[in-house]
Parts: sequence; C-alpha cells; structure tokens
Amino acid sequence: MNMGVLQYYFSMKALLWVLVVFVQTREYMGCLEEERVGLLHLKSFLIISIPSLRAYHLPSWVDHEKSDCCNWERVTCNSTTGHLIELSLDNLMQDPRYKYYEKRSWLLNVSLLEPFKELRSLDLSFNAIDGCIPDEGFEKLSTLRNLEILNLGYNSFDDNSILQSLGAITSLKTLNLTENKLEGCFPAQELFTLRNLITLDISWNGYNGTLPNQGFERLVVLRNLETLILDSNSFGYSIIPSLSNLTSLMTLSLSNNIFAFDDEGNILVILIAFSHFNLYRF
Ligand SMILES: *[C@@H]1O[C@H](CO)[C@@H](O)[C@H](O)[C@H]1NC(C)=O
Ligand SMILES: *[C@@H]1O[C@H](CO)[C@@H](O)[C@H](O)[C@H]1NC(C)=O
Ligand SMILES: *[C@@H]1O[C@H](CO)[C@@H](O)[C@H](O)[C@H]1NC(C)=O
Ligand SMILES: *[C@@H]1O[C@H](CO)[C@@H](O)[C@H](O)[C@H]1NC(C)=O
Ligand SMILES: *[C@@H]1O[C@H](CO)[C@@H](O)[C@H](O)[C@H]1NC(C)=O
Repeated sequence: MNMGVLQYYFSMKALLWVLVVFVQTREYMGCLEEERVGLLHLKSFLIISIPSLRAYHLPSWVDHEKSDCCNWERVTCNSTTGHLIELSLDNLMQDPRYKYYEKRSWLLNVSLLEPFKELRSLDLSFNAIDGCIPDEGFEKLSTLRNLEILNLGYNSFDDNSILQSLGAITSLKTLNLTENKLEGCFPAQELFTLRNLITLDISWNGYNGTLPNQGFERLVVLRNLETLILDSNSFGYSIIPSLSNLTSLMTLSLSNNIFAFDDEGNILVILIAFSHFNLYRF
C-alpha cells in the first residue's frame, strides 16, 4: 500500500466513525413529542376523573420541553427507538390497602391511549374503573399492533359488551379481567378473534354459565391458549364439556365454582381426560 491509499483508508475510517457516532446520537433523542403530549393529556384526564389522584398528581409528568418522558414514573420506553412500550397505571390512587369497592367509580376514555403506537403492555388494574365513555372503548386500541399484555383486574367493569371491544385487540397475548363485576353468561364467542391469546383470566366475577353454542368450545380456534383461569365464579357443571375441546390448554383453574358431582363422580372423569394439563384446581 502506498501512502496515498493509506491516507485514503484512514480518512474513510474517520468519516465512518463520524457517521456511526452521528447515527447513534440521532437514534435516541428522548421520548417522542406526540407521546409526551399524549401523556400530558392523559394526566389531565386522570386528575379530573379520579378525585383522590389530585394529591399524588403523577409528579414527574411535567409539561416542560426538556423533560424526557421516558424517565417519568410508570413509563417504560424502548431505549433504541424512544417509543413508549409499557404503561403501568395500576393503583393510581396509591392506596396500599386498596379497597376498590369503597372508591368512587369513573369512566375511562380509551382514545387517550391511542398515541402510544408501540405500546406492548398496559396495566390498568386496581383503579375502580366502572366502564368506558360511550364510543371511547377498548376497540380504540385495535390500532396498537404490538399490544400484548392488558391487565384490567380489580376494577368495576360490569358490562359484558367490554368483551366485544377487547376482541378487536387481536395482538393480545394476555388478557386479565380478574375481580370485576361481570356476570350472567360468559360470552366466549366475542373473544374468538384473539388468535394470539395465551392467557385469559376471568376469575372473581359473577359468571354463571355460557349460552348454547357460544361457550368455551368457541375458543378452540385460539391455538395458543395455554392458561385459563375461571376461579370464583358460579360456572356450573354444564361448562365442562365445552372445555374439553381446548386442546392447547396447559393450565385450567376452576376453584370456587359451583360444581355438582354426579353419583359416578363424572366431573372427575371428564377432567382426568385432560391428560395434557400440568395443573388444574377445582
Ligand atoms: C426496541 O426497538 C428495536 C427496533 O424496533 C427492536 O429491535 C427491539 O427489540 C426493541 N427492544 C425492546 C426491549 O422492545
Ligand atoms: C376522548 O379523548 C379523545 C382524545 O383526546 C378526545 O378527542 C375525545 O373528545 C374524548 N371523548 C370524550 C367524550 O371526552
Ligand atoms: C391478573 O392480575 C392480577 C392483579 O395484577 C394478578 O394478581 C394475577 O396473577 C393476574 N392473573 C394472571 C393469570 O396472570
Ligand atoms: C345467571 O345470572 C344472570 C344475571 O345475574 C341471571 O339473570 C340468571 O338468572 C342466572 N342464571 C342462572 C342459570 O343462574
Ligand atoms: C368438540 O369437538 C368435537 C370434535 O371436533 C365435536 O364433535 C364436539 O361437538 C365438540 N364439543 C363441543 C362442546 O363443542
């Protein structure tokens, strides 16, 4: 190699370094403006909706251009893209002895969560949410293509139409509705669109059965469904045959339901037929 080539080689290398450093610093520049604004809108709504939030106030969520919302409490971003990927809005009343039934209930405007396009996990548990504002329900989250985990446990949802809205979030892998006020027939058919679902928890509600041909057998198309938690409802014996078709299940939990055993102990016989389960309780 003569000097000219070497010089050329080193100057190219230096140029590449400059480019690499430039690209790396360009990649992550704090949270995205539309997501920062989205969080501030959400904060204003939450403070109006939850009276007891006024004292706690999400103090790090401040309206200042230099404040990186990826560092705010209850927020997690992807460190490469700066997109918000996790929102942990559980127990916003900050009550260590949370008693959801003593709280004043409120309605959620789900549209306020739409700006967070890359969201993967949303936790809204322990908040005494009563339902959604009309036409601002969970179907609005169908545009969030990466949303995999949704926890709505320990709220006061009492309208089964929520299941139809949730059926629109087809990316969901985990749906948790434990401890709400849902009752009557569980409308399993509304969830048959959730083809990625792995875990469904509807324990501690008031479900007492399913409608003919609209029971758990409708979930047979959910080929990834591994965990089904049905504890503490009033499901009777009649749901058992419809569960026998869910061949992908690994865990089924049925404790504290109303099951009648027949003289031959038939409920046991049917459950033992699920040889693929590694755990079940009832
Ligand atoms: C962050 O985003 C990049 C680019 O989309 C992706 O490859 C990576 O897996 C993401 N990391 C996390 C922790 O989500
Ligand atoms: C819900 O939030 C969206 C987005 O901020 C807003 O456009 C809409 O007006 C709100 N709906 C109601 C009923 O307040
Ligand atoms: C559902 O959420 C509650 C509250 O966060 C949690 O205790 C429970 O373990 C969750 N269920 C599943 C199946 O993960
Ligand atoms: C199931 O619950 C609903 C609503 O609580 C009630 O109207 C219905 O009579 C119950 N059905 C049975 C079979 O208990
Ligand atoms: C379960 O699947 C079998 C075979 O596909 C079918 O004959 C049976 O009717 C199904 N049971 C229920 C309760 O849907």
